[in-house]
Amino acid sequence: MKRIFAYLSLAAAIVMTAACRSNTPAEKPFDGPAYLNPAAPLEERVEDALARMTLEEKVALTHAQSKFSSAGVPRLGIPELWHTDGPHGIRPEVLWDEWDQAGWTNDSCTAFPALVNLAATWDRDLARLYGKSIGEEARYRKKDILLGPGINMGRTPLNGRTFEYMGEDPYLAGQLVVPYIQGVQGEGVAACVKHFAVNNQETRRTATNSIVDDRTLYEIYLPAFEAAVKEGGAWAVMGSYNLWNGQFNCHNKRLLCDILKGEWGFDGVVVSDWGGCRDDDEAVHNGLDIEMGTWTDGLHSDASDGYQNYHLARPFIERLRDGRATEDELNDKARRVLRTIFRTGMSPETHYGSFTSPEHFAAARKIAAEGIVLLKNDGILPLQPAEGAKILVVGENAYKMMVVGGGSSNLKTKYEVIPLDAIREAFDGKAEVKWERGYVGDTTTDYNKVVTGQDLSESRSAARLVADAVAAAREAEYVIFIGGLNKSDHQDNEGTDRLDIVLPYGQDKLIEALAEVSENLIVVNISGSPVAMPWSEQADAIVQAWYGGSESGHALVDVLTGAVNPSGKLPFTMPLALADGPLKTERQYPGIREEGKEWWQEYYDEGVFIGYRWYDTQKLAVQYPFGHGLSYTTFEISDASVKAAGEGFEVTATLTNSGKVAGAEVVQLYVSDTEATVERPEKELKGFEKVFLEPGESATVRFPLDRRALSFFDAEAHDWKAEPGEFHALIGLSSRDIRADLSFNL
Ligand code: GLC
Repeated sequence: MKRIFAYLSLAAAIVMTAACRSNTPAEKPFDGPAYLNPAAPLEERVEDALARMTLEEKVALTHAQSKFSSAGVPRLGIPELWHTDGPHGIRPEVLWDEWDQAGWTNDSCTAFPALVNLAATWDRDLARLYGKSIGEEARYRKKDILLGPGINMGRTPLNGRTFEYMGEDPYLAGQLVVPYIQGVQGEGVAACVKHFAVNNQETRRTATNSIVDDRTLYEIYLPAFEAAVKEGGAWAVMGSYNLWNGQFNCHNKRLLCDILKGEWGFDGVVVSDWGGCRDDDEAVHNGLDIEMGTWTDGLHSDASDGYQNYHLARPFIERLRDGRATEDELNDKARRVLRTIFRTGMSPETHYGSFTSPEHFAAARKIAAEGIVLLKNDGILPLQPAEGAKILVVGENAYKMMVVGGGSSNLKTKYEVIPLDAIREAFDGKAEVKWERGYVGDTTTDYNKVVTGQDLSESRSAARLVADAVAAAREAEYVIFIGGLNKSDHQDNEGTDRLDIVLPYGQDKLIEALAEVSENLIVVNISGSPVAMPWSEQADAIVQAWYGGSESGHALVDVLTGAVNPSGKLPFTMPLALADGPLKTERQYPGIREEGKEWWQEYYDEGVFIGYRWYDTQKLAVQYPFGHGLSYTTFEISDASVKAAGEGFEVTATLTNSGKVAGAEVVQLYVSDTEATVERPEKELKGFEKVFLEPGESATVRFPLDRRALSFFDAEAHDWKAEPGEFHALIGLSSRDIRADLSFNL
């Protein structure tokens, strides 16, 4: 009986399936136009759409229609492109044609750490996590182009946007920008890598001509962008405001047509910086695809129907009509814009993203913590105070919210955990935590109508503030100074450069006064760029923290308490003084006026010698070197070796956690070419691996060294050149902490 029942059930199942199947419509062939077919190959969709468009519709694709959008093709159902700042989170909605906030109540984002904080993690996996997370936020907010990441090199510590970039080394920036871009674009959002190129200062950024020789350009200022395009597959690149060798970079023929689209084969869109397009003819002929901007001529006065006055609007149509511009030039721009639309808003994969999720805040906290750099520790950290201990926190940056401000990376976030609250939370019921402001820095609480709600007003005098802090320090077992810079003018802020690397607001004297009365002084510097630390001997511990975003306070406390063992490494050199740097003359920085030249002229006379390439070659003392960062455990390097491998070499070494707690270390490989026909830096970073190890655990790290890694750029030959002779592979835990020196011959 059972067997019959089994057969009947099986028969019934077969009938049902067939019936179900017959209810499922057979895969009918797509019967719409090819450009609407998500399954059609990308280029087929592009060509089909292009063939259906009028000249005016194509031109409309190539310029702004509002502050942060460029046109689609309404008649064909091709959506417009929505652009959004910035590299650290999704900018709050602004009005159609204003910088002012639109006052939406659904656009408070997750604020991720500043990109310099990501750079300090030296962690490719975190870069990908960062990109994926911010890409999900952009997609959820229905944005198609994320205006970031920024990867301009740290030529001067004074650059106001150092916090938005990834340090002073092109290899480090290149290795981290690739996974960031892939993370973003995996969500159907275009990363728009910026600001292309040699835009290394904010001073007169729209009126300065960077004069850079080809070797310096190819060795220092292009490699991170080259990696972004060729390895990261960036779908968009933003031209920068400045000029390079005499042409504005938003339509610089050599930069955009010869190098970016020619040598690198870039198939995406070149977007101008806002107002960076400055010339009708060059905009048509020199590689610009979408002109974004502020007003009619990009930078200056408004006018009615402004968008039709844009260089790539009415003037472009006039040129197409009178033959000064060709249909081919128009079609190339239109194809690139359509390709971007089909990669994002009309992507064959439907993406929905996510916004302010616990996962995003957790990612922000993890990245922020892993990028915090322990510069000095005489054993006071991790902080484990006795029951009932008195902890005094001093400094405005313990309290001031920092997600806001800084220019276009200004964010409205769901919440920001300030250090003081996180410290109070961590030691609640265990220790008494007091706070003294110590100094007054930036009392701004409203950044372009993003309002923090904090009250930063202060009635006490500077002297009173210091006296109160010192008096309180006398009563405390531990003093945690949390100061540094902020997002105000001439600090870490777009549009202005810093004036020196000395800490502002009298912080140096305050720190020294606190050191006089405290046995346990921890100094936390929160900044996005290097600062001088004349008090470094008096501090018992020094921590370089960054603008860590929404979870900044928790990330800092995770490190201070040892919940996270610090593994950050400096992405730039911390010099003793600005004067030690390579920029010695006005013509090097911030540029000079020259007879008969309309724009300021800035000469990159230092060539490839920036950052540690300068300090190490000149054998100059520094406060803390590039790649430096301590841990709560210790690491050893052993069994280092180099051997020939294919066309190049392979360097290997063993890393061991010789301490008592789990931790991570970044093994760095520098190459030194001791026999060269050109002057080369004493060392150059050509490999790094971040390794997490349990106490006593070891791991082998391997670094391939291809010929490009051994080469300098020969401008005459316009090619990379690895000269025969002796090389050294330097394996270290910073650019100055070299643990193995292996010589080999090419
Ligand atoms: C700004 C910045 C750029 C930003 C753009 C839009 O001037 O230079 O990084 O993405 O304009 O806000």
